[in-house]
Order: sequence, then structure tokens, then C-alpha cells
Amino acid sequence: MAKENIYILGIESSCDDTSAAVLCNDNILSNVVANQDVHAEYGGVVPELASRAHQSNIVPVVDRALKQAQITKEQLHAIAFTRGPGLMGSLLVGTSFAKSLAYGLDVPLIDVNHMQGHILAHFIKEDGYKKPPFPFLAMTISGGHTQIVEVKSYFDMEVIGETIDDAVGEAYDKSGKILGLGYPAGPQIDKLAQLGNPKAFKFTKPKVDGLDFSFSGLKTAILYFVQRETKNNPNFVEDNLNDICASIQYTIIGILMDKLKLAVKQTGIKHIAIGGGVSANSGIRAALKNGEHKFGWTTYIPKFEYTTDNAAMIGIVGYLKYLEKDFSDFDIMATARLKI
Ligand code: KG4
Ligand code: ZN
Repeated sequence: MAKENIYILGIESSCDDTSAAVLCNDNILSNVVANQDVHAEYGGVVPELASRAHQSNIVPVVDRALKQAQITKEQLHAIAFTRGPGLMGSLLVGTSFAKSLAYGLDVPLIDVNHMQGHILAHFIKEDGYKKPPFPFLAMTISGGHTQIVEVKSYFDMEVIGETIDDAVGEAYDKSGKILGLGYPAGPQIDKLAQLGNPKAFKFTKPKVDGLDFSFSGLKTAILYFVQRETKNNPNFVEDNLNDICASIQYTIIGILMDKLKLAVKQTGIKHIAIGGGVSANSGIRAALKNGEHKFGWTTYIPKFEYTTDNAAMIGIVGYLKYLEKDFSDFDIMATARLKI
């Protein structure tokens, strides 16, 4: 007898993207993301505005996801949602909506840890994509997170390193703000960096023990550097923008690669899976490829739409939990600081 297809709706609303995805088993049928442009003029996510935008986006986004998947909500077997970590007001919108829909349809509710979503996004079925074998190391790098996780199985994971202050994406975005670039600055710095000399300017790397990261000092170093240099040459930033971006990028990649090499050394694990918006960075991708040749690593980078914040990654965790019958109680609360 053929196995029954399982349809899961995933909902993600932890930060500034409202997203809904429909899965049939581990296949993605739709993955709709509504970005919130409202934050650009503030140079970063404004939590109050994010909650309001989620509130107005959530129903149209879910409706579009169901239509694109060509199923009706009555066909859904479960509703998976991001419980945390994230912005409380944003999480509450997705959590409340997911509860109401699951209650109305009388189907199980499944809570998902957003960070597990980034990691298990590698298990979405994609033609030609090789899934990482257990155990592997997952490095999640985005505007909200910087973590290295040892992944022993789907639900046995240990955070072995994380940022003690800013996330790596914040380091990009805040540096970009100092340079007068728009938000988010990561993609722009990446583009300009490719035209510049990475060794033109030197920024010291933070000294943080073990596998933890720190990025707040880099932002301050760049601020003082720019203030000092513009005193001598008011056009310093414009005159040297490509070189400044290349030097910032070189420093950031150096910090990430040093920790990754140490993590491989400590764990003996050479399978490395990357997630989060910063994994789009051309320099980081090149450094990982270099690690394959130089250190015998195997690296795994999912399709870009599954690497930034999206509901497909929440849906895949929902599917894996559904198979385990790991369902949530309806009094479950959104949690801003949720550990893996
Ligand atoms: O995963 P994401 O879409 O959202 C969260 O922050 O959770 O990541 C967004 C972050 C921003 O900080 C953005 O500047 C950064 O990813 N980013 C990049 C690149 N593309 C996006 N940073 C460096 N290089 C890129 N190519
Ligand atoms: Zn994220």
C-alpha cells in the first residue's frame, strides 16, 4: 500500500519576514515570503513595525502559499510555527495564528525552534542536493545569529560556539551604515569588496576564547578608523570604498574561518553545513571551497531561498516532528530566547 502523503503548513514570523510554506512530505510545494521594506529607512529592524506588518501580512501570505501549493486548508495534516528565538511581538503573531488555524482545523500544532529550522533546511528534498550525513557541523550566520552547532541527529544538537554580542550580519549592516551604505549593507559590501584590495586596511580580530564570536569591537574599530581618516581627507570613504569593503570582508571571513577550523579540530567532524542570509556571501563561499581542497572538508549550502528566513525550513522540521508524533499543547507560549 502506498504511504499517505503528509501535508504540513509552516509559518515563520520571528523577525521581519512573514512567511508561509506548504510541504508534501519533505517536498516544498510553496514557500511565500513577504519582506518588510518599512525598516530600510531606519537602518535596521524596528520591532514594533515588524509586529504590525506581520499582522497585516499573515493571512494573505498563508492564503497565497495554499493557492500556490494547489491544496485546500482542509487537506493539511498539521500546522508548524516558529516558537522562538526572535522578536516577541513578531513571534506572537505567527504563534497565535498557527494555534487558531490548528484548533479550527482540528489538526496537530507543532512548535519549531527557528535555529533548528536553519539547520534542518538542509533536509528539504531538492534535485541534485546532497544532504549532510550525521554528525555534521552547522554554521548559522545571519543578521540575527552566529552559531556553530554540532548536529548528531535531527533532534540532538549542541551549540558549541556563538556570538557573545552582535551577529555577523549586524557587523556587515552596522559597518555599512558607517560607510553611508543602505540597509541591509551585507550584499553591497560583498559586491564592492570584490573590486577592492582585502589587505589595504587592517582591522584587528577580536580575542574570544574557544568557539565563541564577538563582532561589536569590529564595528567600533571601523567607526574610529573612518572618523580618523576623514579628518585628513573628507572624501576618504568615497575615495577608498572598495578597499574598505574588501578589508572589512577579509576580516570577517578570517574570524569565521578561524573558528570553523578550530571547531573541526575539536570535534574531528569535516562535514560543514551553512545557513543564514550571510551564507550568500561570495567570500565566505570561496573560503569554504578552499577548505574543501585544503583541509578535506565537505560543505553543504542550500538553495538561497531556504537559507534566509523562510517558512519552508519551519515546515521541514514540522514534517520530521510529525513523523515522531511530537506535537505541542495549545497553551504553548512564544519564547524570545529559546535555546536549541
Ligand atoms: O537570514 P537573513 O535573511 O535574516 C536574518 O537576519 O535572520 O539574513 C540577513 C542578513 C543581513 O544582515 C544581510 O546584510 C546579510 O544577511 N547578507 C549578507 C549577504 N547577503 C545577505 N551579508 C554578507 N554578504 C552577503 N552577500
Ligand atoms: Zn534566521
